[in-house]
Amino acid sequence: MKISVIGAGNVGATCAQALAQRDFVNEVILLDIKEGIAEGKALDMCQRGPIDGYSTIVRGVTNDYEATKGSEVVIITSGIPRKPGMSRDDLISTNAKIVKSVTEQSIAASPDAKIIVVANPLDVMTYTAYLAAGIPSNRVMGMAGILDISRYKAFIGFELGVSVKEIQALLLGGHGDTMVPLPRFTSVAGIPVTSLIGEERLGEIVARTKKGGGELVKLMGTSAWYAPGTAAAQMAEAIVKNENRIFPCCTWLQGEYGQKDVYLGVPVQLGKNGIEKIIEVDLNADEQALLDTSCGAVKGVMKVLDDMAIFS
Ligand code: LAC
Repeated sequence: MKISVIGAGNVGATCAQALAQRDFVNEVILLDIKEGIAEGKALDMCQRGPIDGYSTIVRGVTNDYEATKGSEVVIITSGIPRKPGMSRDDLISTNAKIVKSVTEQSIAASPDAKIIVVANPLDVMTYTAYLAAGIPSNRVMGMAGILDISRYKAFIGFELGVSVKEIQALLLGGHGDTMVPLPRFTSVAGIPVTSLIGEERLGEIVARTKKGGGELVKLMGTSAWYAPGTAAAQMAEAIVKNENRIFPCCTWLQGEYGQKDVYLGVPVQLGKNGIEKIIEVDLNADEQALLDTSCGAVKGVMKVLDDMAIFS
């Protein structure tokens, strides 16, 4: 059983490490275009195994897609990250070409793989991978919702001083400032969060969540990796172990939530076939309006991709 992680930058390396530590696959292939980087990081991860008690073999390779052959899941983290002052959408001209090329090479080596995209702008890069892979949409998805919801849960945990393990939440929409955390579907040990945190304060937490990625870019001068890389590993684990866990993932919508022909974050059930099921909940008019706005923002970026004409 093999999982491949394409790109050994901060996100890819963290993802490979999280996969190794979870100890559920025999082999993780870490691939990068820069010679030595993936090999070195992978060796370091193998040498951590005896300390942490995992036996996953992590193997680093330089642009060798042959080594990724037969992967059950391929996680695409390639591309450039944000710098301060940049939006995720500013990355499209560089990252679309990279994601197209690595997807084509990955799917040629592993025609049955499920693909998880982590490059930004996330929703449109997932769409790019879908077009490049030419496989059914249940096997191409993007990692964003787990990360965004995790930030939201962390902030609620800070606010209440409770363990984040007690927090359940739902979040919809694109991976951008228009994402839609849903307080009406958020609870702490079953207690509605709206009865624990006042409306105004909750509004501030929602606002901080929406700009959660940007907050980190400002602090570090580049985008985050611990939570993003680990979130992608969690998706891969749910697929490989056929866990049928429910996570918000970037998914191809065909009418669900009133959206069509767009990759957008919604709750899905993840199992051995990738997206086993899209889960729909009834939104009120305000929530639906926020989701429509988020969808509009993603479609605007899709138009930029179309104008690049890399698929024609
Ligand atoms: C973030 C990047 C990975 O939200 O999009 O941190």
